[in-house]
Amino acid sequence: MTDRYAVIGHPVAHSKSPLIHAAFARATGEDLHYGLIEAPLDGFGAAVDAFRAGGGRGMNVTVPFKEAALVWCREQGGALSARAARAGAVNTLAFDGERLACDNTDGAGLVRDLEVNLEFSLRGRRVLLMGAGGAARGVMQPLLDAGVAALAIANRTAARAQALAEQFAPGARGGDYAAFAGGRFDLVINATSAGLQDAMPDLPAGCYAAGALAYDMLYGRDTPFMQHARGQGARVSDGLGMLVEQAAEAFRIWRGILPDTASVLAMLRRAQA
Ligand code: ATR
Repeated sequence: MTDRYAVIGHPVAHSKSPLIHAAFARATGEDLHYGLIEAPLDGFGAAVDAFRAGGGRGMNVTVPFKEAALVWCREQGGALSARAARAGAVNTLAFDGERLACDNTDGAGLVRDLEVNLEFSLRGRRVLLMGAGGAARGVMQPLLDAGVAALAIANRTAARAQALAEQFAPGARGGDYAAFAGGRFDLVINATSAGLQDAMPDLPAGCYAAGALAYDMLYGRDTPFMQHARGQGARVSDGLGMLVEQAAEAFRIWRGILPDTASVLAMLRRAQA
């Protein structure tokens, strides 16, 4: 019988996850269907329950439900992975009879995109993470675990960056953007939502080291941050590879097979061009 999976979010119609998982299923010969569920803002738990009651085997959770999903998992007595607890958010649910497993594959997806697809080794690198919301928090521990030499968190609201840094100390330092002027980072990651408003954070001069990589976690648009970074001579990437890699890790959790991502990423890039 075809196993059913879905991504739950609000809005969710634009999601590329059904396309990605359908491609993984074809490539691995797995018999599954992956759909979209748009839940009302106050109806996350009810929508998950309904999908599960209908025989659903797993879900991806996207904006704005990732933090709510963590609270819900705890209430349900689900098995919460250490990385999801540390991220403060859940993006993958797996249902096996009565058993509920809750995980977060976003950070692993970012690290894999950086290290494998972009061939950017994180060990010993100086990293500036921009933003202090859920997107930034979700990738901090995986970056630290990958052995970065320094992790600076810059945010428009400095107090949020400082609070986040304290939670992940030692190894992280927080402040406003000006605090990191002249920091010469090897990697600058944009985890803010500024690009969605065609804006960019107030990145001061001298942030990029020679040969630095500028990575925007958004995809499907050339953000002001990416354009600015190119002007500074940095190498630039959007977050499409992270999207594909977090999906591959979710697929592995559900099906026990890590699918090849290169062909799927290439397909999405062609569709985007
Ligand atoms: P998410 O879960 O996507 O991280 P969030 O919790 O709303 O969403 O956080 C959005 C992040 O983008 C925050 O770091 C926010 O900065 P503030 O904490 O100062 O609000 C940042 N952000 C949003 N728009 C921005 C802009 N135009 N310039 C700079 N930072 C911006």
